[in-house]
Amino acid sequence: MATAAQAYDREDAVDQDAYERAFDAAVAADERIEPRDWMPDAYRATLVRQIAQHAHSEIIGMQPEANWITRAPSLRRKAILMAKVQDEAGHGLYLYSAAETLGTGRDELLDKLHTGRQKYSSIFNYPTLTWADVGAIGWLVDGAAITNQVPLCRCSYGPYARAMVRICKEESFHQRQGYELLLALSKGTPEQHAMAQDAVDRWWWPSLMMFGPPDDESAHSAQSMAWKIKRHSNDELRRRFVDICVPQAESLGLTLPDPDLKWNEELGRHEFGEIDWTEFKNVLKGNGPCNEQRITQRRQAHDEGAWVREAASAYAGKHTETGAARA
Ligand SMILES: [Fe+2]
Ligand SMILES: [Fe+2]
Repeated sequence: MATAAQAYDREDAVDQDAYERAFDAAVAADERIEPRDWMPDAYRATLVRQIAQHAHSEIIGMQPEANWITRAPSLRRKAILMAKVQDEAGHGLYLYSAAETLGTGRDELLDKLHTGRQKYSSIFNYPTLTWADVGAIGWLVDGAAITNQVPLCRCSYGPYARAMVRICKEESFHQRQGYELLLALSKGTPEQHAMAQDAVDRWWWPSLMMFGPPDDESAHSAQSMAWKIKRHSNDELRRRFVDICVPQAESLGLTLPDPDLKWNEELGRHEFGEIDWTEFKNVLKGNGPCNEQRITQRRQAHDEGAWVREAASAYAGKHTETGAARA
């Protein structure tokens, strides 16, 4: 005869199956999974990992461009750049909040970033050497981010998908300001044109690496596609990005640094040269030109902001006490 505990276990297993079937059916029907819904542990863990990496990239990404705020060539350019860098902080906030709905707090995620247990996009480990880099980042890096992120607006997890809708609108403004900045330089003096070309030469390949490793080496892709977190493969998105950039580079009057780049009539898309994955892996391992500087500055900013967090929580505590006293 089964003990009460065994019977309970069996009932529990039946419930688990039912929950899993409901989850699978919701994903298959393109319905959104919401924070209170049952979800497989691995789905939750994958989302936390991806959203955290994304949030970290937004806030670390503020550094290379913030480097140019004090040296922007005009008031107009400075105002635009400050707005953009602030937007990126906002993107970080939306995303840390989305991760919070999965039960993982911002403190824990920041701690993982600061101790190197979670990553951010490798693109931000490259330096911004000239003013034109601000344009190249907007055009190429924000452009690649949009290509990656527009499909995430249809991601199966509700809070992440909704955060992406707003983020993508702002990224689109970022991409356009970068394009407009590069256009002004490209049509300027020969020195300005050369500066724009040099920036594009340095940022082109790293921006192609932003789509992640090739499909056959991408560890998490298949499962993420099945869960509809990811909608398109890395290579598919990378090809889409190249097709978007080629005519834009022509309008800018700039060239892309790839001698193998050509239109393939039969495939209806551009072919492009081999990506240097050794460089990608090396930067990912922490050996990029700015890895150390980025994380040191991030830790420093966090420590210097401790008093703000303490003041905010003291204020919130006071507010709760007053509210409780009034009730
Ligand atoms: Fe952003
Ligand atoms: Fe952006």
